[in-house]
Amino acid sequence: MHDYVRSVHEGAQYKYEPDLALLAEIDHEIVGHIMSTNTYINTPKGKVGNVLHLAPLAVLLNMRKQGIGRQLMNASIEAARAKGYRAIFLAGNPVYYSRLGYVPSYKHNIYYAEAEQLAKEVGTSSEHIKECIMVYELFPDALKGIEGNIVLL
Ligand SMILES: CC(C)(COP(=O)(O)OP(=O)(O)OC[C@H]1O[C@@H](n2cnc3c(N)ncnc32)[C@H](O)[C@@H]1OP(=O)(O)O)[C@@H](O)C(=O)NCCC(=O)NCCS
Repeated sequence: MHDYVRSVHEGAQYKYEPDLALLAEIDHEIVGHIMSTNTYINTPKGKVGNVLHLAPLAVLLNMRKQGIGRQLMNASIEAARAKGYRAIFLAGNPVYYSRLGYVPSYKHNIYYAEAEQLAKEVGTSSEHIKECIMVYELFPDALKGIEGNIVLL
């Protein structure tokens, strides 16, 4: 995970969004972290931007199950909305993220082109990966009329 964060910070090809890198602190100790990176949807009409790829989200092992993850997720939604983004995409456990309002992106006709390859890498089915590529719309109908493939970094 550290390698991922470093590559997003340092990689010139990624548009890391500093205002959406948030820390959770308790008594001056960092107990959680969330960040998002600017990305786009490839559509037949061209690229549609103003969308984010949220990753990673992490909470210290001994501080989990106290709502810190949920607070970080909610804070990132508010911050992304305030910055005028359209939607937040992520690849994650649907059980956890559906409770936070995320839905599988295929419900909006938006797919992940590399689902099959990712399924092989993590040893699951591409059907399962399809459920794990999720999205949160930041305003009503934010994805209406947009169909294509989300680019995850
Ligand atoms: C996922 C994570 C950030 C949640 O943080 P947290 O502060 O414990 O989250 P919350 O307190 O808001 O929510 C905890 C609830 O989510 C559930 N949960 C946590 N991880 C889950 C997972 N991978 N799948 C399903 N449910 C999960 C917990 O069981 C708990 O459920 P409960 O409230 O019914 O007991 C934390 O477990 C973590 O850092 N995990 C390792 C990194 C990781 O997997 N990040 C997500 C990558 S997709």
